[in-house]
Amino acid sequence: MYNLLKGKRGIIFGALDSNSIAWKVAERAHEEGAKFVLTNAPVALRLGTISELAKQTGSEIVPADATSIMDLENLVDKATKILGGKIDFVLHSIGMSVNVRRGNHYTLQDYNFTKTGWDVSALSFHRVMSVLYKKDVMNEWGSIVALTYMAAQRVFPDYNDMADNKAYLESVARSFGYFFGRDKKVRVNTISQSPTPTTAGSGVKGFDGFIAYSEKMSPLGNATALECADYTISLFSDLTRKVTLQNLFHDGGYSNMGVSTVIMEEFMKDYESEKVVEVVEEPKKKTEK
Ligand SMILES: NC(=O)c1ccc[n+]([C@@H]2O[C@H](COP(=O)([O-])OP(=O)(O)OC[C@H]3O[C@@H](n4cnc5c(N)ncnc54)[C@H](O)[C@@H]3O)[C@@H](O)[C@H]2O)c1
Repeated sequence: MYNLLKGKRGIIFGALDSNSIAWKVAERAHEEGAKFVLTNAPVALRLGTISELAKQTGSEIVPADATSIMDLENLVDKATKILGGKIDFVLHSIGMSVNVRRGNHYTLQDYNFTKTGWDVSALSFHRVMSVLYKKDVMNEWGSIVALTYMAAQRVFPDYNDMADNKAYLESVARSFGYFFGRDKKVRVNTISQSPTPTTAGSGVKGFDGFIAYSEKMSPLGNATALECADYTISLFSDLTRKVTLQNLFHDGGYSNMGVSTVIMEEFMKDYESEKVVEVVEEPKKKTEK
Protein backbone atom coordinates (compact mmCIF):
# COMPACT_ATOMS: atom_id res chain seq x y z
CA MET A 1 0.00 0.00 0.00
CA TYR A 2 2.58 2.61 1.09
CA ASN A 3 5.73 0.43 1.22
CA LEU A 4 6.27 1.65 4.79
CA LEU A 5 8.15 -1.51 5.78
CA LYS A 6 9.92 -2.25 2.51
CA GLY A 7 13.11 -4.24 3.19
CA LYS A 8 12.40 -4.57 6.91
CA ARG A 9 12.60 -7.84 8.84
CA GLY A 10 10.55 -8.75 11.88
CA ILE A 11 9.29 -11.27 14.40
CA ILE A 12 5.54 -11.41 15.19
CA PHE A 13 4.38 -13.14 18.36
CA GLY A 14 0.76 -14.08 19.09
CA ALA A 15 -1.23 -14.81 15.90
CA LEU A 16 -3.63 -17.57 16.94
CA ASP A 17 -6.52 -17.17 14.50
CA SER A 18 -7.86 -14.57 12.10
CA ASN A 19 -9.36 -12.53 14.98
CA SER A 20 -5.97 -12.07 16.68
CA ILE A 21 -4.52 -8.57 16.64
CA ALA A 22 -1.14 -10.11 15.68
CA TRP A 23 -2.79 -11.76 12.66
CA LYS A 24 -3.90 -8.36 11.34
CA VAL A 25 -0.46 -6.90 12.03
CA ALA A 26 1.13 -9.72 10.01
CA GLU A 27 -1.25 -9.12 7.10
CA ARG A 28 -0.58 -5.38 7.14
CA ALA A 29 3.21 -5.84 7.53
CA HIS A 30 3.15 -8.15 4.51
CA GLU A 31 1.21 -5.56 2.49
CA GLU A 32 3.77 -2.93 3.48
CA GLY A 33 6.65 -5.02 2.12
CA ALA A 34 8.11 -6.58 5.30
CA LYS A 35 9.54 -10.08 5.69
CA PHE A 36 8.92 -11.73 9.05
CA VAL A 37 8.87 -14.91 11.08
CA LEU A 38 5.66 -15.89 12.89
CA THR A 39 5.83 -17.47 16.31
CA ASN A 40 3.51 -18.80 18.97
CA ALA A 41 3.50 -21.34 21.82
CA PRO A 42 3.66 -24.96 20.54
CA VAL A 43 0.16 -25.68 21.92
CA ALA A 44 -1.27 -22.65 20.09
CA LEU A 45 0.27 -23.88 16.84
CA ARG A 46 -1.73 -27.08 17.23
CA LEU A 47 -5.01 -25.38 18.23
CA GLY A 48 -4.91 -22.31 15.99
CA THR A 49 -4.76 -21.68 12.27
CA ILE A 50 -1.41 -19.87 11.99
CA SER A 51 -0.23 -22.06 9.09
CA GLU A 52 -2.84 -20.37 6.86
CA LEU A 53 -1.35 -16.98 7.74
CA ALA A 54 2.15 -18.27 7.03
CA LYS A 55 1.05 -19.42 3.57
CA GLN A 56 -0.75 -16.18 2.86
CA THR A 57 2.24 -14.00 3.85
CA GLY A 58 5.06 -16.28 2.63
CA SER A 59 6.42 -16.57 6.19
CA GLU A 60 7.98 -19.35 8.21
CA ILE A 61 6.76 -20.36 11.66
CA VAL A 62 9.18 -20.98 14.51
CA PRO A 63 7.49 -22.27 17.69
CA ALA A 64 8.46 -20.64 20.99
CA ASP A 65 6.92 -20.63 24.44
CA ALA A 66 7.50 -17.06 25.63
CA THR A 67 8.24 -18.35 29.14
CA SER A 68 11.29 -20.31 27.91
CA ILE A 69 14.64 -18.57 27.33
CA MET A 70 15.83 -21.62 25.37
CA ASP A 71 12.88 -21.38 22.99
CA LEU A 72 13.39 -17.64 22.56
CA GLU A 73 17.10 -18.02 21.84
CA ASN A 74 16.35 -20.68 19.26
CA LEU A 75 13.65 -18.43 17.73
CA VAL A 76 15.97 -15.43 17.42
CA ASP A 77 18.82 -17.52 15.94
CA LYS A 78 16.47 -19.12 13.41
CA ALA A 79 14.70 -15.86 12.55
CA THR A 80 17.93 -14.02 11.70
CA LYS A 81 19.01 -16.98 9.55
CA ILE A 82 15.66 -17.30 7.75
CA LEU A 83 15.36 -13.54 7.19
CA GLY A 84 19.02 -13.12 6.24
CA GLY A 85 20.04 -10.43 8.72
CA LYS A 86 19.28 -8.37 11.80
CA ILE A 87 15.72 -7.59 12.92
CA ASP A 88 13.92 -4.24 12.46
CA PHE A 89 10.67 -4.86 14.33
CA VAL A 90 9.17 -7.15 16.95
CA LEU A 91 5.53 -7.45 18.06
CA HIS A 92 4.75 -8.92 21.50
CA SER A 93 1.03 -9.76 21.34
CA ILE A 94 0.76 -12.27 24.17
CA GLY A 95 -1.67 -12.46 27.06
CA MET A 96 -3.20 -15.15 29.25
CA SER A 97 -4.53 -15.31 32.82
CA VAL A 98 -5.26 -18.68 34.40
CA ASN A 99 -7.32 -16.97 37.12
CA VAL A 100 -9.54 -15.41 34.42
CA ARG A 101 -9.87 -18.75 32.64
CA ARG A 102 -10.81 -20.56 35.84
CA GLY A 103 -13.20 -17.82 36.98
CA ASN A 104 -11.29 -17.01 40.20
CA HIS A 105 -12.29 -13.67 41.68
CA TYR A 106 -9.55 -10.99 41.91
CA THR A 107 -9.76 -11.07 45.71
CA LEU A 108 -9.35 -14.87 45.81
CA GLN A 109 -6.59 -15.67 43.36
CA ASP A 110 -4.72 -18.92 43.16
CA TYR A 111 -1.21 -17.46 43.38
CA ASN A 112 0.34 -20.23 41.33
CA PHE A 113 -2.06 -19.25 38.54
CA THR A 114 -1.20 -15.60 39.18
CA LYS A 115 2.51 -16.39 38.73
CA THR A 116 1.87 -18.28 35.50
CA GLY A 117 -0.24 -15.46 34.07
CA TRP A 118 2.41 -12.88 34.99
CA ASP A 119 5.15 -15.04 33.52
CA VAL A 120 3.29 -15.46 30.20
CA SER A 121 1.78 -11.99 29.90
CA ALA A 122 4.33 -9.63 31.43
CA LEU A 123 7.72 -11.14 32.26
CA SER A 124 7.80 -12.67 28.77
CA PHE A 125 8.26 -9.15 27.37
CA HIS A 126 11.41 -8.68 29.45
CA ARG A 127 12.61 -12.13 28.39
CA VAL A 128 12.07 -11.42 24.68
CA MET A 129 13.93 -8.11 24.90
CA SER A 130 16.70 -9.62 26.99
CA VAL A 131 17.42 -12.23 24.29
CA LEU A 132 17.29 -9.62 21.49
CA TYR A 133 19.59 -7.29 23.48
CA LYS A 134 22.12 -9.95 24.51
CA LYS A 135 22.37 -11.37 21.00
CA ASP A 136 22.58 -7.83 19.55
CA VAL A 137 20.22 -8.73 16.72
CA MET A 138 18.20 -5.52 16.44
CA ASN A 139 19.10 -3.02 13.72
CA GLU A 140 19.56 0.61 14.76
CA TRP A 141 16.26 2.53 14.65
CA GLY A 142 14.39 -0.75 15.03
CA SER A 143 11.09 -0.86 16.89
CA ILE A 144 9.63 -3.15 19.55
CA VAL A 145 5.90 -2.96 20.40
CA ALA A 146 3.80 -4.79 23.01
CA LEU A 147 0.02 -4.66 23.39
CA THR A 148 -1.64 -3.57 26.60
CA TYR A 149 -4.95 -2.40 28.08
CA MET A 150 -6.06 0.61 30.10
CA ALA A 151 -6.81 -1.54 33.15
CA ALA A 152 -3.12 -0.88 33.93
CA GLN A 153 -4.12 2.67 34.96
CA ARG A 154 -7.84 2.52 35.80
CA VAL A 155 -10.06 0.01 37.61
CA PHE A 156 -11.87 -2.57 35.47
CA PRO A 157 -12.94 -5.10 38.12
CA ASP A 158 -13.40 -8.11 35.82
CA TYR A 159 -10.03 -7.67 34.10
CA ASN A 160 -8.72 -9.40 37.21
CA ASP A 161 -4.97 -10.06 37.61
CA MET A 162 -4.39 -9.08 33.95
CA ALA A 163 -4.62 -5.44 35.15
CA ASP A 164 -1.52 -5.98 37.31
CA ASN A 165 0.24 -7.87 34.51
CA LYS A 166 -0.36 -4.99 32.10
CA ALA A 167 0.99 -2.45 34.63
CA TYR A 168 4.16 -4.56 34.90
CA LEU A 169 4.40 -4.94 31.12
CA GLU A 170 4.17 -1.16 30.60
CA SER A 171 6.85 -0.57 33.23
CA VAL A 172 9.17 -3.09 31.55
CA ALA A 173 8.69 -1.23 28.25
CA ARG A 174 9.98 1.97 29.86
CA SER A 175 12.81 0.41 31.88
CA PHE A 176 14.16 -1.84 29.11
CA GLY A 177 13.37 0.81 26.52
CA TYR A 178 15.87 3.13 28.19
CA PHE A 179 18.74 0.65 27.75
CA PHE A 180 17.62 -0.35 24.25
CA GLY A 181 17.48 3.32 23.23
CA ARG A 182 20.77 4.32 24.83
CA ASP A 183 22.80 1.33 23.70
CA LYS A 184 21.19 0.19 20.42
CA LYS A 185 19.05 3.11 19.16
CA VAL A 186 15.97 0.90 19.30
CA ARG A 187 12.51 2.17 20.35
CA VAL A 188 10.21 0.34 22.75
CA ASN A 189 6.53 1.25 23.16
CA THR A 190 3.23 -0.24 24.27
CA ILE A 191 -0.09 0.28 22.50
CA SER A 192 -3.09 0.42 24.81
CA GLN A 193 -5.85 -0.95 22.61
CA SER A 194 -9.67 -0.75 22.88
CA PRO A 195 -11.50 -3.93 23.89
CA THR A 196 -11.38 -6.14 20.78
CA PRO A 197 -13.31 -9.39 20.13
CA THR A 198 -10.50 -12.00 20.07
CA THR A 199 -9.91 -15.24 21.97
CA ALA A 200 -8.00 -13.44 24.78
CA GLY A 201 -10.41 -10.48 24.90
CA SER A 202 -13.63 -12.48 24.94
CA GLY A 203 -12.31 -14.62 27.83
CA VAL A 204 -12.75 -11.67 30.21
CA LYS A 205 -16.01 -11.84 32.22
CA GLY A 206 -18.52 -9.18 31.13
CA PHE A 207 -16.59 -8.51 27.90
CA ASP A 208 -19.78 -7.68 25.96
CA GLY A 209 -20.58 -4.98 28.52
CA PHE A 210 -17.06 -3.46 28.45
CA ILE A 211 -16.96 -3.30 24.65
CA ALA A 212 -20.45 -1.78 24.35
CA TYR A 213 -19.73 0.76 27.11
CA SER A 214 -16.43 1.96 25.61
CA GLU A 215 -18.05 2.14 22.16
CA LYS A 216 -20.63 4.59 23.56
CA MET A 217 -18.09 6.50 25.63
CA SER A 218 -15.47 7.11 22.89
CA PRO A 219 -16.02 10.00 20.48
CA LEU A 220 -14.56 7.89 17.64
CA GLY A 221 -15.87 4.52 18.85
CA ASN A 222 -13.72 1.48 19.66
CA ALA A 223 -10.62 0.81 17.58
CA THR A 224 -10.75 -2.47 15.64
CA ALA A 225 -7.97 -5.05 15.38
CA LEU A 226 -7.23 -3.88 11.84
CA GLU A 227 -6.97 -0.26 12.99
CA CYS A 228 -4.62 -1.42 15.75
CA ALA A 229 -2.52 -3.13 13.07
CA ASP A 230 -2.33 0.12 11.09
CA TYR A 231 -1.13 2.00 14.17
CA THR A 232 1.43 -0.72 14.90
CA ILE A 233 2.77 -0.49 11.34
CA SER A 234 3.31 3.26 11.83
CA LEU A 235 5.38 2.48 14.93
CA PHE A 236 7.46 -0.06 12.99
CA SER A 237 8.03 2.42 10.17
CA ASP A 238 10.75 5.07 9.87
CA LEU A 239 8.12 7.79 10.39
CA THR A 240 8.17 7.41 14.20
CA ARG A 241 11.91 7.10 14.92
CA LYS A 242 11.95 9.29 18.02
CA VAL A 243 8.87 7.80 19.70
CA THR A 244 9.99 5.61 22.58
CA LEU A 245 9.20 4.70 26.24
CA GLN A 246 5.55 5.56 25.56
CA ASN A 247 2.28 3.92 26.43
CA LEU A 248 0.16 4.99 23.46
CA PHE A 249 -3.62 4.89 23.76
CA HIS A 250 -5.34 3.57 20.66
CA ASP A 251 -8.93 3.67 21.81
CA GLY A 252 -11.02 6.24 19.90
CA GLY A 253 -10.44 8.76 22.71
CA TYR A 254 -11.90 6.62 25.52
CA SER A 255 -8.97 7.12 27.92
CA ASN A 256 -9.51 10.88 28.16
CA MET A 257 -13.30 10.78 28.56
CA GLY A 258 -15.22 11.52 31.74
CA VAL A 259 -18.72 10.89 30.44
CA SER A 260 -20.41 11.06 27.01
CA THR A 261 -23.89 12.40 26.25
CA VAL A 262 -25.13 8.93 25.17
CA ILE A 263 -24.00 7.32 28.42
CA MET A 264 -25.46 10.20 30.45
CA GLU A 265 -28.83 9.93 28.67
CA GLU A 266 -28.98 6.18 29.37
CA PHE A 267 -28.00 6.71 32.98
CA MET A 268 -30.67 9.40 33.39
CA LYS A 269 -33.35 7.10 31.94
CA ASP A 270 -32.57 4.50 34.62
CA TYR A 271 -32.18 7.17 37.26
CA GLU A 272 -35.58 8.70 36.45
CA SER A 273 -37.33 5.31 36.51
CA GLU A 274 -35.71 4.53 39.90
CA LYS A 275 -37.08 7.84 41.23
CA VAL A 276 -40.62 6.86 40.09
CA VAL A 277 -40.32 3.53 41.95
CA GLU A 278 -39.27 5.39 45.11
CA VAL A 279 -42.25 7.75 44.93
CA VAL A 280 -44.67 4.86 44.40
CA GLU A 281 -43.19 2.78 47.23
CA GLU A 282 -42.85 5.52 49.83
CA PRO A 283 -46.56 5.93 50.82
CA LYS A 284 -46.95 2.11 51.01
CA LYS A 285 -44.21 1.88 53.65
CA LYS A 286 -45.87 4.64 55.67
CA THR A 287 -49.34 2.98 55.68
CA GLU A 288 -47.76 -0.36 56.74
CA LYS A 289 -46.41 1.32 59.88
N1 LIG B 1 -8.67 -8.29 22.84
C1 LIG B 1 -8.68 -7.22 23.61
O1 LIG B 1 -9.73 -6.73 24.04
C2 LIG B 1 -7.37 -6.56 23.96
C3 LIG B 1 -7.36 -5.22 24.38
C4 LIG B 1 -6.14 -4.63 24.71
C5 LIG B 1 -4.96 -5.39 24.65
N2 LIG B 1 -5.01 -6.69 24.23
C6 LIG B 1 -3.76 -7.47 24.20
O2 LIG B 1 -3.47 -7.82 22.87
C7 LIG B 1 -2.59 -8.95 22.91
C8 LIG B 1 -3.07 -9.98 21.89
O3 LIG B 1 -4.29 -10.54 22.28
P1 LIG B 1 -5.52 -10.79 21.30
O4 LIG B 1 -6.63 -9.98 21.81
O5 LIG B 1 -5.09 -10.65 19.89
O6 LIG B 1 -5.91 -12.30 21.64
P2 LIG B 1 -5.36 -13.72 21.10
O7 LIG B 1 -5.95 -14.72 22.03
O8 LIG B 1 -5.64 -13.87 19.67
O9 LIG B 1 -3.78 -13.62 21.32
C9 LIG B 1 -3.12 -13.96 22.52
C10 LIG B 1 -1.91 -14.79 22.11
O10 LIG B 1 -1.05 -15.09 23.22
C11 LIG B 1 -0.46 -16.35 22.88
N3 LIG B 1 0.19 -16.99 24.02
C12 LIG B 1 -0.40 -17.42 25.17
N4 LIG B 1 0.51 -18.04 25.93
C13 LIG B 1 1.71 -17.98 25.28
C14 LIG B 1 3.02 -18.44 25.57
N5 LIG B 1 3.31 -19.08 26.71
N6 LIG B 1 4.01 -18.21 24.65
C15 LIG B 1 3.74 -17.56 23.49
N7 LIG B 1 2.51 -17.09 23.16
C16 LIG B 1 1.50 -17.32 24.06
C17 LIG B 1 -1.67 -17.13 22.40
O11 LIG B 1 -1.34 -18.35 21.77
C18 LIG B 1 -2.33 -16.13 21.48
O12 LIG B 1 -1.81 -16.23 20.17
C19 LIG B 1 -2.55 -9.43 24.34
O13 LIG B 1 -1.41 -8.90 24.99
C20 LIG B 1 -3.80 -8.80 24.91
O14 LIG B 1 -3.75 -8.66 26.31
C21 LIG B 1 -6.18 -7.29 23.87
